[in-house]
Amino acid sequence: MRDDRLQDRHVVVTGGAQGIGRGIATRVAEAGADVTVFDVDTETAAETAALVEDHGSTAQVVEVDVSDGDDVAAGVERAIDGLGPIHGLVNNAGIQRSIPILELSEEEWDAHMAVNAKGVFFCCREVGSHMVEAGIEGSIVNIASTGATRPFPGQGVYATTKAGVVGFTIVLAKELGEHGITANCINPGTVDTPMVQQWLEENAERAGVAEEDLLEDALDLHVLDRMGQPREIGHVATLLLSDEGEWITGEAINVDGGYTKM
Ligand SMILES: NC(=O)c1ccc[n+]([C@@H]2O[C@H](COP(=O)([O-])OP(=O)(O)OC[C@H]3O[C@@H](n4cnc5c(N)ncnc54)[C@H](O)[C@@H]3O)[C@@H](O)[C@H]2O)c1
Repeated sequence: MRDDRLQDRHVVVTGGAQGIGRGIATRVAEAGADVTVFDVDTETAAETAALVEDHGSTAQVVEVDVSDGDDVAAGVERAIDGLGPIHGLVNNAGIQRSIPILELSEEEWDAHMAVNAKGVFFCCREVGSHMVEAGIEGSIVNIASTGATRPFPGQGVYATTKAGVVGFTIVLAKELGEHGITANCINPGTVDTPMVQQWLEENAERAGVAEEDLLEDALDLHVLDRMGQPREIGHVATLLLSDEGEWITGEAINVDGGYTKM
């Protein structure tokens, strides 16, 4: 299903090695975009790049730790050197460990804030500056979470980072609107990725229940009673990155099988 909505555009996807990031990278490639994948896991990211190229697009992998400002600045330079000016940025890289607040260490707090919040800031600042300087009316899509408004127990710091990203994105939209740049969040519900597998393992062990039972309970909280697929987040990212999304900004769009409506 190839279309040309993102033809001749260069999209950077952070955390694109696996999971939702891979789903977004391959979906935007189907719409014609060339893709730079930023990730700390370059080996797995190379598999995503190969999938992007299967769709006839060009892909490159750049090793970037989004929590490191110098790394992000250098990564953006390399992205532009390799595939040209950047039209779209998807801030997808994230971490989540399930830890009750009373057991949460300062190190875990800082680690989540560094990747999920500061990483989004660094990438928006660098790519946003590039878009403004180059006069590109681009789009920025931040992958937050339904955990921003309806988190599970154990998501104290995760929910803090994701709610922060939703607020940050509204400010970003207001500041970049005059340059024709849009900024939005997608808030996924439960999507079938390695992160969710890890969440199931941690919580099943903690609660002393089977992973299948825990998953069934989680899915019962979704109107559509199933996990989302990474590609389904990719569909909405593609819309927001395309001309069809150019009058949407500052939004946080739930793509969650109805989780936030239960
Ligand atoms: N899976 C879900 O149900 C779900 C729901 C809501 C929101 N999200 C969000 O979607 C995003 C992707 O989630 P996922 O489930 O695909 O996760 P995942 O753990 O499967 O993949 C995350 C990717 O980010 C990369 N990454 C981690 N730290 C990084 C860093 N410092 N710099 C660069 N890359 C880094 C990892 O290497 C990996 O490739 C995350 O922001 C997550 O919070 C996921």
